[in-house]
Amino acid sequence: MTAPTDRIRARALALRSAELPAYLYDLAALRGHAARIRAALPAPVELYYAAKANPEPEILAALRPYVDGYEVSSGGELAHVGTSVPGAPLAFGGPGKTPAEIAEALDLGVERFHVESVYELRMLAGLAARHGGDRRVAVLPRFNLPVGGGALDGSSLAMGGRPTPFGMDPGQADEVVALLTDGTYPQLELRGVHAHLASGLEAPEQLAVAESVVTWAVRLAGRHRVPLAEVTVGGGMAVDYAAPERRFDWAAYGTGLARLAAAHPGLTLRIEPGRALTAYCGWYATEVLDVKHSHGEEFAVVRGGTHHLRTPATKGHDQPCTVLPSDEPWPHPWPRSAARGDRVTLTGQLCTPKDVLSRDVPAPGLRAGDRVVFGVAGAYAWNISHHDFLMHPRPGFHFLDSPGGRAEGSVEDGAA
Ligand SMILES: Cc1ncc(COP(=O)(O)O)c(C=O)c1O
Repeated sequence: MTAPTDRIRARALALRSAELPAYLYDLAALRGHAARIRAALPAPVELYYAAKANPEPEILAALRPYVDGYEVSSGGELAHVGTSVPGAPLAFGGPGKTPAEIAEALDLGVERFHVESVYELRMLAGLAARHGGDRRVAVLPRFNLPVGGGALDGSSLAMGGRPTPFGMDPGQADEVVALLTDGTYPQLELRGVHAHLASGLEAPEQLAVAESVVTWAVRLAGRHRVPLAEVTVGGGMAVDYAAPERRFDWAAYGTGLARLAAAHPGLTLRIEPGRALTAYCGWYATEVLDVKHSHGEEFAVVRGGTHHLRTPATKGHDQPCTVLPSDEPWPHPWPRSAARGDRVTLTGQLCTPKDVLSRDVPAPGLRAGDRVVFGVAGAYAWNISHHDFLMHPRPGFHFLDSPGGRAEGSVEDGAA
């Protein structure tokens, strides 16, 4: 289980019932985590944060010293990240970009476009002629590449290596390179290649992906005798919700990327993780409202639910959690409900059997009023949830920090 840091634990216990549920973020722990990731990566590797994982302005700002830029995937993210971390380099990706979004990105001077189709390339060229000014717009076409050796087989969320709407088929690569280098679109510059093939991959699989994307891109550029400045190999570093103390092996990944970079001097490699950067710095804190017995099993209904923390419902896991027993006296004249057994399933307030946060949690004697803090809730949690279903109140948001905003502690070991 990912235990809350001291700072998170104290706040979860200090909040009044009416102030729960609440998202609690430990920014100092986030900085420490990001600093360790940055230190594991060799110099020729750029680190972009995929803002879709958690675009809270405080999170974006805390990451700024450790990342080279941000990957955004919509006009909304573009505008939001642009104001939250002014001046930070942005790469604009995502399928189905509209002309208005592209024009806005050009007006804002976005550094890089991850282009998802030939149609989008032609649209970008047309708009760049009007909105791009004198500069050449840097393009990294996104390709949906096959990867051998079963590297994508373990992914829970594959976007490449199989038929998907993401990126371009490798069969279109020669046409795309020609369009970008034969004078057809002088306002565009072929800067490199982008791929994001899957999420949930461990370091050896990520390295196989990186190697295969880079090899393919270098061959493509060589065939056309054009320079290749950058290759983005995507995000998707694994977060294990079933064993959250097991972490992505950034050291092994960094060593492998250093070898790859050394084999291609002058080439900038870029990664764009989301989940593995921010998942561990967020907790969803709530309290038990009621404990019930049903057909031989026990259920604790907590304030809130999957309309705030949808991650366990979308990924089908049990959200790691910690019970913080309340030592407040029971304030009501009616009896306090409590678990009779050792194992309790934690559910939310929604009228659907899918509103399950964690099954069979060891929680002997769990009582109404006890606090429960769900960990690994810093990525794809609040921002992917269906907030308005049943119209319950929204959670509070607390961004906890060290004095002076230092990077400290370790979300790996739960200290802060
Ligand atoms: C293009 C792209 N890059 C990066 C990411 C980040 O992936 P993860 O959060 O799994 O690291 C995603 C996630 O969907 C993505 O679509």
